[in-house]
Amino acid sequence: MFYSDDLIEEVRSRNDIVDVVSGYVRLQRKGNSYFGLCPFHSEKSASFSVSREKQMYYCFGCGAGGNVYTFLMEYEHYTFPEAVKALEERAGFALPDQEESEEDKRRQSLKSRVMELNKEAAKYFYYQLRAPGGAHAMNYLKGRGLSDETIQRFGLGYANKYSDDLYRYLKGKQVPDELLAQSGLMQVNEKRGMYDKFWNRVIFPIMDANSRVIGFGGRVMGDGKPKYLNSPETVAFDKSRNLYGLNFARTARGKYLLVCEGYMDVISLHQAGFTNAVASLGTALTAQHAGLIRRYTQEVILTYDSDEAGMRAALRAIPILAEAGVNARVLNMKPYKDPDEFIKALGASEFQKRIDDAQNSFLFETDMLQTAYDMNDPNGKTAFYRAVAEKLTGFEQELERENYLEAVAARYHVRAESLRKLVNSVALGSINRRVAQPQTQRLQRKEQEPGILKSQKLLLTWLIEFPALYAGVKKYITCEDFTGDLYRNVARLLFAQYDAGEHVPAKILDSFTDPEEQSRVAALFHSNLEVETEEEREKAFRETLQKIVAHSLDERRAGLDPADIQGLQRLLTEQKKLKEIAGENFVFH
Ligand code: CTP
Ligand code: MN
Repeated sequence: MFYSDDLIEEVRSRNDIVDVVSGYVRLQRKGNSYFGLCPFHSEKSASFSVSREKQMYYCFGCGAGGNVYTFLMEYEHYTFPEAVKALEERAGFALPDQEESEEDKRRQSLKSRVMELNKEAAKYFYYQLRAPGGAHAMNYLKGRGLSDETIQRFGLGYANKYSDDLYRYLKGKQVPDELLAQSGLMQVNEKRGMYDKFWNRVIFPIMDANSRVIGFGGRVMGDGKPKYLNSPETVAFDKSRNLYGLNFARTARGKYLLVCEGYMDVISLHQAGFTNAVASLGTALTAQHAGLIRRYTQEVILTYDSDEAGMRAALRAIPILAEAGVNARVLNMKPYKDPDEFIKALGASEFQKRIDDAQNSFLFETDMLQTAYDMNDPNGKTAFYRAVAEKLTGFEQELERENYLEAVAARYHVRAESLRKLVNSVALGSINRRVAQPQTQRLQRKEQEPGILKSQKLLLTWLIEFPALYAGVKKYITCEDFTGDLYRNVARLLFAQYDAGEHVPAKILDSFTDPEEQSRVAALFHSNLEVETEEEREKAFRETLQKIVAHSLDERRAGLDPADIQGLQRLLTEQKKLKEIAGENFVFH
């Protein structure tokens, strides 16, 4: 970044967000905020809010959010420096002459040149598929049931059997070797020099949400290995931030997205009318993917392969999605392996039924958990119920927890009352958590994470909403008590502002350059804290704070050298905080 922090803040503060956004979205004032139709997802009622006080926007529908910079980056697809520049010009004041750094210029222009080149290559592959030499590739695709229209829509192509055809074609267009080397389209080898990455394969162009070609996948036509070759990551292609099919799915009408594994899954689903299908292309779903998804929907149906690997992938994806605020259900494809096979065999309407029947992610998790226990052995059974009880404590809202408790009790044939007792004792920590439960330990650890992260998020939201709380809280907690990287950073920035007597939420966002992160941070500033009475609120606040402090102490205890007596002593002293919190009178206003 080449602008100084002060400058960025100066430019931001001279561009009122309500004025800027009004240039794009029709806003109406409601109380302290302005509302309009969200420009980042399609909707009929206004859930896009802009706050003049906070100088931020947030969409309650799709989760998009940020400050005035984020808005321009998202809406105009500006890079950060471009957004600063545009606002600088808009405010009409001369900034001290800032030269764009060479590094920034170079990267930006490299990215657009690589995209340009990808487009050229996509056109080339497209043409090859339709040329006489591409007939067998076309037959292969048709043989897999793809219609002309589908082949067209996804821009499918063919890399012919010569391993330097594309290379020579692009050289004919005077593309320099340095650019080719960075494009991911070529391979270099000492003996042969530079040659095509893809040959004798059908080609699937990979597009970003704005339909710009960012990479390619190539499939052998038959049983050769490897089945797929994919572009490596380049300046233009970041696998953890893009989803295949999203360029179409983002405008689909469904209220959920179908998330599957591969190219053919997406294509056959779209062909069957499920145009809301996307794929993470064989790589595990990342937090960035989840953040991207959250911009379009709050609900996902996981449509992973029905094999062991697919189930594991679903188990991993559920908490990642949950953390981003996306609810998941899991679709059962059995006895077929993947959506492509399923639709070929049973058709679209049967698939729709499976969507309607997709399983709640919590019950999917507990079902999977159960397979790790011997349910014929009383000990195994007890251990399983205990594990379920532990999971149930992850629900913060009593009603939700109770609903799940009843569903689970019925499902696994245990009396709701017994399970409720177990949940309560687990919650009180009276059960020694170290009881042997070997295979599942890893599973549980992962699932516990989101609970504590939720608490950390909640606490931050409270502190942002009620700055007066900070005075009472700061003797119990520091930013180091936040275990999620993102939340720790927000806490650090927020606490620093409060310590300096400032309250400028939009400024905090300047520290996050990643749009996904910005949305998550903006969400902290716009949560609806649903609490009924003052009393309830205080109680909930206290419990949240205690939970975070307890978790932080646990973590530190676990990392302590047993010989470190002083460290232990310190922890014991700090342990007292938990009691003190219970007696503290927190002031909200
Ligand atoms: N994949 C990959 N490389 C491989 C195998 C798979 O990159 N060697 C990725 C591809 O993105 C693929 C996805 O993982 O689409 C799912 O793999 P798989 O189920 O094997 O492929 P399908 O998409 O089902 O393709 P097909 O129906 O052609 O077998
Ligand atoms: Mn498959």
